[in-house]
Amino acid sequence: VEKKRKLVIVGSGEFGRIAFEYFTYDSEYKVVAFSVERDFLEESEIEGRPVVPFEELAQRFDPKDHDVYVAVTYTQLNRVRTRLFKTVKTLGYQCATYVSSRAFVWRNVELGENVFIFENNVVQPFCKIEDNVVLWSGNHIGHRSVVEENCYLSSHVVVSGYCRIGNSSFVGVNATFADNVTIGPDCLIGMASTVNRDLEGGKIWTGSPVEASRIPSLRYFKVKEVHL
Ligand SMILES: CC(C)(COP(=O)(O)OP(=O)(O)OC[C@H]1O[C@@H](n2cnc3c(N)ncnc32)[C@H](O)[C@@H]1OP(=O)(O)O)[C@@H](O)C(=O)NCCC(=O)NCCS
Repeated sequence: VEKKRKLVIVGSGEFGRIAFEYFTYDSEYKVVAFSVERDFLEESEIEGRPVVPFEELAQRFDPKDHDVYVAVTYTQLNRVRTRLFKTVKTLGYQCATYVSSRAFVWRNVELGENVFIFENNVVQPFCKIEDNVVLWSGNHIGHRSVVEENCYLSSHVVVSGYCRIGNSSFVGVNATFADNVTIGPDCLIGMASTVNRDLEGGKIWTGSPVEASRIPSLRYFKVKEVHL
């Protein structure tokens, strides 16, 4: 297959390397480089591609000819990925959205930029997946639900219909949401938790049904940059 567009992956950790695999073998993108902030630069090459300091990204790779994918997981409750995504947008790049060829995403789902949808996700009609969201493998996003920007859903999460997952939230593996549930921003939903009602943002919620823990989610994740 002829590759149409050149891509730089920001992030050289495990997710950066996984993103390289998926973009290379299951997309129209050709990965030409990796980029990381200078303080985290350890190797000069990954998969035969140069690793360039993030601070030099725009000089080295013209935003007119290159797209970027920011491949960072949920460090500091998604703040690191969000900060890098916003910086890349300020530099004038278009961000790549990846949808696995083995995911089911209905034709009228609205997808933002810098979204990554792994295999076996089901995203039903009239859903909205906003910018900078990661849907790791095998989630179900029911009809009319909205996953707000900067969220990270682990794996095998069930979001029923008409839900709203507040921005920058992290949802652990196998969590379940009843239909019509809205959760606020910055929630941490523990693995296998059952969300059967609306939840206030900024908290850690675990159990079935969920209860709030005493420690706020931002403190648990040692977040320094609360506002971005
Ligand atoms: C919520 C979470 C972050 C808390 O982790 P932690 O700080 O290490 O907390 P602990 O394991 O010490 O648990 C603290 C208490 O909460 C309870 N608890 C923690 N997670 C729970 C969960 N998901 N469901 C029910 N109870 C839970 C523990 O039983 C413990 O109770 P206790 O105080 O009565 O003994 C973690 O359990 C979790 O769910 N992580 C998500 C994992 C995941 O999905 N990873 C995917 C990565 S892609």
